Amino acid sequence: MQIEISPPLAAPLMESIRAIGYTAAMAVADVIDNSVSAAADEVDVLFVPSAEPYLVILDNGYGMSLADLKNAMRYGSRNPQEGREGTDLGRFGLGLKTASLSQCRQLTVISKQHGSVAACRWDLDYVQAQGNWALQILDATEWGKLPHVAKLSHLTSGTLVLWQNLDRLVESGGDRQRLFSKAMDDVREHLRLVFHRYIEGEAELQTLKLRMNGMALSAIDPLLRRRSARPMADEFLAIDDAKILVRPFLLPHVSQLSAAEIKNLGGKEGLRQGQGFYVYRHKRLVIWATWFRMIGKAELSKLVRIQVDIPNNLDHLWALDIKKATAMPPALVREQLQGIIEKLAACSERSWTIRGRKAVGDNNTVVWQRLQGREGGVYYQINRQHPMLAAWAGESGKLSLSLEALLSMIESHLPLQQLHVDLNKESNTWQNRDIDEQMLENILKNLLGQSSDNRRKSELLNKLAMAEPFNRCPKLIEQYRRLIG
Ligand SMILES: Nc1ncnc2c1ncn2[C@@H]1O[C@H](COP(=O)(O)OP(=O)(O)OP(=O)(O)O)[C@@H](O)[C@H]1O
Ligand SMILES: [Mg+2]
Repeated sequence: MQIEISPPLAAPLMESIRAIGYTAAMAVADVIDNSVSAAADEVDVLFVPSAEPYLVILDNGYGMSLADLKNAMRYGSRNPQEGREGTDLGRFGLGLKTASLSQCRQLTVISKQHGSVAACRWDLDYVQAQGNWALQILDATEWGKLPHVAKLSHLTSGTLVLWQNLDRLVESGGDRQRLFSKAMDDVREHLRLVFHRYIEGEAELQTLKLRMNGMALSAIDPLLRRRSARPMADEFLAIDDAKILVRPFLLPHVSQLSAAEIKNLGGKEGLRQGQGFYVYRHKRLVIWATWFRMIGKAELSKLVRIQVDIPNNLDHLWALDIKKATAMPPALVREQLQGIIEKLAACSERSWTIRGRKAVGDNNTVVWQRLQGREGGVYYQINRQHPMLAAWAGESGKLSLSLEALLSMIESHLPLQQLHVDLNKESNTWQNRDIDEQMLENILKNLLGQSSDNRRKSELLNKLAMAEPFNRCPKLIEQYRRLIG
């Protein structure tokens, strides 16, 4: 026996689904996914943080007819199990409605296709009052008054999504204007990140011009692909006839990054937190900076970022959620990824070591040497070949007993355990103290004063110019070079 029960009540269901957990940034990105799927190469996000704030997402994609639009406004407009075009970023037939109405109470979509315009609206208060799934169809006099519709007339096809009555995006209480601007800042950073490959452009991908209130958004590439090393060859994982590309990157060492790059990577703390997998679903970043609980975020693996490219037909395996904000790799993929991260964590450790060794190889420049002990461990030693110590050692090449005793004491009391703890702290703001330039100058004067021969002085200056910490003060060295003449 079966009975057919009535369809879900519109207002309660729509109100409940609002709490699905979108942030403003995720919601805007979800709507832009539709623009990208509709082959748009220009998307404008337009807003005013006025007393009546609204937000518009306008694209030049292929648009919708009235019939398409009416269907698009339905919850569950497509079956998630249906196959999709490889370029379609959609899956559930929900995003347009759920993302939009998670932020606002009134969603209007105006779309143009083959010269004709169609407009539909979900208004939660209207639906509540009508007590049914009352979708409003707007006529030209109604949609003609809406903000930015004039821009649609310049396009051959396109879609304008308008959010009004932004009760969630701008919650009451507090400084609404400030909250709105802050939310828009988050939206901007999110879009620059999740669509970075579209903004940068790559083969077989439309290059996307993304603007917010007219300002073009530049990409934030969390993998710094142009500058990062590729420590191992790409791997391809074959699942259900589909291919997953896994491409590991090793970021340049922090000391090689510009201030802007460090900022884009979330600051020094973000740099460490940012290690992990970067999962792209048809080139759109969906999940990032996670090791899927396979390993912890260790200091040594902090430069590792692994690009994982999944096609859009493996969503069922990856347990993609409606917001497309979480997904877990299937067991088979996890196993293979585990193997890759092990190789790479080792690789990052090596790069760390190599960096140390390189410096050690160039024996005269570093203060600390990292050396291999006979039993296989490593230890640190103050570099006796450093030009400053070499100058103090003088002709004999030997340091005075008291200086040697002092250095040995420092070396044998390095607080290694504590350093390890500090370096691995989540809120790691640990750093060396700045160099005291005055003290350096005093040392420099003292060293130069030991010889009356200008040629020797000049040689010493050349060596010091390359050595820590003098290499960080080229002006000071230059000043003394001029004094010597
Ligand atoms: N900007 C747009 N241009 C053209 N068609 C669109 C646009 N936005 C939505 N559509 C159409 O409306 C449909 C419903 O969109 P919606 O975002 O609700 O679901 P989806 O994209 O299919 O899946 P998902 O829930 O995963 O986002 C889309 O499948 C698409 O056909
Ligand atoms: Mg969608």
